[in-house]
Amino acid sequence: MSDTKAEKLIIEGGHRLQGDVTISGAKNSVLKLMAASLLTREPVHLSNVPQLSDVDVMMDVLRHLGVTVEQSGHEITLCARDITCFEAPYELVSKMRASFNVLGPLLGRFGEAKVSLPGGCSIGKRGIDLHIKGLEALGANVKIVHGFVESKAKRLVGSEIVLDLPSVGATENVMVAAVLAEGATILSNAAQEPEILDLADFLNAMGADISGAGTNEIVINGVKPENLGGVSYHVVPDRIEAATYLIAAAGTRGDVTLHAVHPAHLHSLTHKLMEMGANITLPTPNQIKIQVDKRLQTENLTTLPYPGFPTDLQAPLMALLAISEGTSVIRETIYENRFNHVGNLKRMGAKIEVEGNVAIVTGVESLSGACVKASDLRAAAALIIAALEAKGQTEILNLHHLDRGYEKLEDKMRQLGASIQRIPVTDENVLETTQQQQGVE
Ligand code: EPZ
Repeated sequence: MSDTKAEKLIIEGGHRLQGDVTISGAKNSVLKLMAASLLTREPVHLSNVPQLSDVDVMMDVLRHLGVTVEQSGHEITLCARDITCFEAPYELVSKMRASFNVLGPLLGRFGEAKVSLPGGCSIGKRGIDLHIKGLEALGANVKIVHGFVESKAKRLVGSEIVLDLPSVGATENVMVAAVLAEGATILSNAAQEPEILDLADFLNAMGADISGAGTNEIVINGVKPENLGGVSYHVVPDRIEAATYLIAAAGTRGDVTLHAVHPAHLHSLTHKLMEMGANITLPTPNQIKIQVDKRLQTENLTTLPYPGFPTDLQAPLMALLAISEGTSVIRETIYENRFNHVGNLKRMGAKIEVEGNVAIVTGVESLSGACVKASDLRAAAALIIAALEAKGQTEILNLHHLDRGYEKLEDKMRQLGASIQRIPVTDENVLETTQQQQGVE
């Protein structure tokens, strides 16, 4: 992976995306599978691992704990035989919130874990109270001391847990911790995201006894450590990456076929795109084809836990609604502050008004290229989609956000006919762009 600290994308808009693109493994699954590999002393082999900076960070976290990590292309082998440390430090957890997922497996296997608090982030408060309540319900003693979550338990004991809201991370941490608990855990109001099902399938392949994952009630029957063994597992396709290409294709009135996807995981988006006027078909069970040859109509949108419309696609879809015909109301219900992309979309000519957690988008005929800065991962995706749709040239800075979650995005987009290149940023460029941006947002 290239060093993205000082690079920017230059995109010449107006090129219709056409052709085929293969979707990578899911970032939001692989990170959790990697963390869960801590449950067993046997080697865990993962394939379809996306090459992303977040995966690099998780490898660093695991190495810090004493896991041996071998990486070859899209495959990694992890072995947590000799764990030397139960502490995930601030330097690593602050780089990536998913590092917090080592809490459940460390506690479950060793009865001890000390993980730095991740803190809030630019998109919202992102609490961890539900993780803590769930682990306490399993019998752990959890304290927050000097910025760390310190947890201890002689042996976790299964329990009935009802999450206040279907948090993805809390469902994962509690489910993984409960694998080695004594007796059964019933986790209600659980998150139902496909990545939860992928994690349960992975754990079951390792020897765990989990049923109901993918529904709102998960039952985890505790097993003994000697029942857990090594596993070889293929990571589920990244539904958010796939969705990003579908929306980009729609925004350029393109004709694109995605390969290596699970269409059912994309239902809320494909349904929305069809309502907007896109033609979507499934040539094979693992492909989705989108064809758009006219300006799409706007649709309203409310983000919800799966199977509702994903918050991670709110920004990308806003970039499409910005050039669609009509006015749409976008309601963000998962995060308190996930409209950071709006100011940059407005720089490109979008008409958007924000009031609390609602954005009103009035479609314009076209956007125009500008210098913009990505504020988070999905904001980066939204700006790329807007740039592909826009007239003229767009420069996008802060690519470290993008490289957390999109493997080889420029190569894939270029293969579809986009004019996109990554170039180094000199200090002068950064200064210039920062000055141009003052006063925005
Ligand atoms: C996961 O985050 C994803 N990250 C996020 O994707 C995604 O946006 C989110 O799920 C929702 O789908 C990974 O999988 C690595 P949550 P997570 O716990 O697990 C509140 C991306 O762009 N909450 O379901 O952190 C929380 O504040 C990222 O790829 C509590 O209040 O999400 C938030 O408002 C961004 N207390 C809401 O729930 C808790 O204890 C959803 O959080 C836990 C969560």
